[in-house]
Amino acid sequence: MSEIQNKDVKILAIESSCDETAAAVVKNGRDVLSNIIASQIDIHTLYGGVVPEIASRKHMEKINQVIETALEEAECQLNDIDAIGVTYGPGLVGALLVGVSAAKAISFASGIPLVGVHHIEGHISANYIQNKELEPPFVCIVVSGGHTHLVIVNDYGKYEVIGRTRDDAAGEAFDKVARAMGLGYPGGPKIDRIAKEGNPFAIEFPRAKIDGSEYDFSFSGLKSAVLNYINGCKMKNKEINTADVAASFQQSVVDVIVERAVGATKKLGMNKLAIAGGVASNSAIRKALTERCEKEGIKFYSPSPILCTDNAAMIGAAAYYEYINGVRSGWDLNAVPNLKLESR
Ligand code: KG4
Ligand code: ZN
Repeated sequence: MSEIQNKDVKILAIESSCDETAAAVVKNGRDVLSNIIASQIDIHTLYGGVVPEIASRKHMEKINQVIETALEEAECQLNDIDAIGVTYGPGLVGALLVGVSAAKAISFASGIPLVGVHHIEGHISANYIQNKELEPPFVCIVVSGGHTHLVIVNDYGKYEVIGRTRDDAAGEAFDKVARAMGLGYPGGPKIDRIAKEGNPFAIEFPRAKIDGSEYDFSFSGLKSAVLNYINGCKMKNKEINTADVAASFQQSVVDVIVERAVGATKKLGMNKLAIAGGVASNSAIRKALTERCEKEGIKFYSPSPILCTDNAAMIGAAAYYEYINGVRSGWDLNAVPNLKLESR
């Protein structure tokens, strides 16, 4: 391990778990030499959400191209690369398989070691890229389209999930509410933008608490409350103030995230809180966490928006710490759609 740490380590990272085909080259886990993302959002927008078969096909069309561009932009050849990091779960199985197969093929042909990475570990590790001084232990609130996890990062690669959603993920709630409001996919950025014009206290939507488990989340009741409100207005021919609905819904999400994340950090006696995942680019959540953490004497960390949504640089950061800890994947590495963060 010390021998590895004495020289620069360059990771070629690949991510294809959902609807972005991405490749990156990352040096020593924190320096991004290239970060290429081919987004499929335009095509999935036509269907109102991600269509798994289309995602797999688009990944196949783009994967070689993004890998080549990532190497070119980083001014690297394959023989400059120390390891290939790839997301192997969780995610859409057909989508994951494209990245995993490409990574295995390159690794097999070149002899470069292969390191399988958990997608959420990637999201958390995006914080290392943005904040060079950040070291575990810290608490991380992971809010994405598929996941809502409250995690203690005890050390690199050592995670303890202390809270999770019981139903919809935070991003899923944003997307479903946006669809009901006719805003299209992906809904998060659209609600974020429209909410800026609205009153976050105009409509009282619920903030769910889970009996007996203080750090778990539930967003399906909130989503239903918003849909009921919209349907109720339509039935009564009452005009809907879209900005107020968006702002009030968003405020409910902000409140539960801030309460659980800051509450856990304080109760655990920790002084560092990070946020990760696509929803981490939400401006109201970032503002509220920044302000509350400042008040509580907690240092708050967040990646820039481009590192919040799916990308391969974050996978390169995670793969670096796995690699220097001796983790290697074999030729039997497979896509694991429901891979658990703690069971790796
Ligand atoms: O992490 P990500 O790119 O993919 C998953 O791993 O799921 O997250 C995508 C999710 C989508 O649900 C999208 O609507 C949400 O992140 N999102 C946002 C914002 N930008 C993206 N949600 C709220 N506010 C945003 N600004
Ligand atoms: Zn993600």
